[in-house]
Amino acid sequence: TVQWIKAIGRDEVPEEDVIAVEAGGKEIALYGVEGEVYATDNLCTHGNARLCDGFLTGHEIECPLHQGRFDVRDGRALCSPLRENIATYPVRIEDGVVFVAL
Ligand code: FES
Repeated sequence: TVQWIKAIGRDEVPEEDVIAVEAGGKEIALYGVEGEVYATDNLCTHGNARLCDGFLTGHEIECPLHQGRFDVRDGRALCSPLRENIATYPVRIEDGVVFVAL
């Protein structure tokens, strides 16, 4: 069953940038893109790096360690050295609060 977890205030999600939150004991990265909020795991699938320390360009987050890029909408790995997609989570905004489904 899907559990909606309160993550952060909507106005705390930076536009065109990424922030890490802890939700349900997991580290999640939240991205503000063109007025939407997207959520993925924060830890890169390639190594020990946090995507919240990476660079967001449009819908692409670039890992700070080896510059692998993921699409934050579906978690697709877009280039080498990435081999594995990253987990994404549904996001819901209610009363100015961001919830993620874990
Ligand atoms: Fe992210 Fe290598 S740790 S690309």
